[in-house]
Amino acid sequence: MNSPKPARGAEPRSNAENLALVERVIATADREHPADGVLREVLASAGREAKLDAGWISGAVFAYYRWWGWLEELPAAGSARIRRALELDARFQQNPASFSDAHLLARVVPRWARDEIGMTPALARALQAHPTIWLRSRAGQGRVIAHALGDCQPFGHGKLVDALKYTGFADLFRTPEFHAGQFELQDLSSQAVGFACNPQPGETWWDACAGEGGKTLHLSSLMDNRGLIWVSDRADWRLKRLKRRAARARVFNYRAATWDGGAKLPTRTRFDGILMDAPCSGVGTWGRNPHARWTTTLQDVRELQDLQLQLLRHAAPALKPGGRLIYAVCTITRSETVEVAERFSREFPEFQPCPLKHPLGVSQAGKDAAGGAESGFAQHLILPQDHHSNGMFIAAWTRAV
Ligand SMILES: C[S@@+](CC[C@H](N)C(=O)[O-])C[C@H]1O[C@@H](n2cnc3c(N)ncnc32)[C@H](O)[C@@H]1O
Repeated sequence: MNSPKPARGAEPRSNAENLALVERVIATADREHPADGVLREVLASAGREAKLDAGWISGAVFAYYRWWGWLEELPAAGSARIRRALELDARFQQNPASFSDAHLLARVVPRWARDEIGMTPALARALQAHPTIWLRSRAGQGRVIAHALGDCQPFGHGKLVDALKYTGFADLFRTPEFHAGQFELQDLSSQAVGFACNPQPGETWWDACAGEGGKTLHLSSLMDNRGLIWVSDRADWRLKRLKRRAARARVFNYRAATWDGGAKLPTRTRFDGILMDAPCSGVGTWGRNPHARWTTTLQDVRELQDLQLQLLRHAAPALKPGGRLIYAVCTITRSETVEVAERFSREFPEFQPCPLKHPLGVSQAGKDAAGGAESGFAQHLILPQDHHSNGMFIAAWTRAV
């Protein structure tokens, strides 16, 4: 799911037990143990004691990493940094104008990232805002789900008639509608990827880095469950989760196989479409996952660029002439977005950039960064400030021969 709903205020729900758990998460989290996973484990092992307030604890952990750039001067021991982070967070959420652009730009992400993402004041502000929870309801069911769950606002724009912004505080995983597969938690930018693929009923697609199947389920829905989707991933445990999710969503038109990204492909099938939702630095999710701002390095970004190109190189020959290749990454670094697209286009001249209409509409900054006009350009950069979503880059090609 998205990161837990952050706390709305600091003091009322703070107590020594809650604070001690926040300190435990922060003391344990590191590059190998991301804070959101540690938080889940700490909350689960703490049980359901009456004094514990999971919402407050989660909010404090995320505030700590969101405002980390402001905390280094404070003593590491004790709770001074946590309290300061909560103060800054509350002030920003209530009155963002009380922070100057220059102040935000200098501290919000590490220096290497400022250059890679072309940091702007609007982006810095979007990264400091509390993240939005987006749902994708089953096709045509947006209104019904909004009514059943309450606290939902339809995105109501472009093709995304079933995308809902959730503003409530319920545990959506416990709702009967979720168990009945009537909606998925899926960021708006990820929903845009499904629409960029635009798979047609009866086609054969390959979701090459399918993970736990977030986009597979959307592709199947867009195909009206007709046709076939091959799903692969290096991680077998992710594919197992995909199967459970697919069963809940009543998606059956897929075949799964592991693929390590090498030249040996999981099938000899030739595809009408390939979605390469590649592993990436996740910089586009830094609003939702602020701990990663301080553990990701430029070296990671460079290595991921190599991996992304390797995955594209190996997968591309499996596309039929006339088929569509979609490259998507939830990052906004230049290295993993436009540079990968440019290098792939140079290496594979038979793959021609394929104009796509943007399902979300795109900001001027996104147009400038992707170097095109709003409709009919082959790359989209969705920035977090455009629609309160994750950042995402989408590029598309069609195979000429
Ligand atoms: C961005 S995630 C995919 C998310 C998924 N498509 C979804 O919508 O839920 C990238 C995936 O690539 C997989 N991956 C990483 N390295 C890989 C490799 N060398 N070959 C194949 N898959 C890889 C990861 O296991 C991860 O599931």
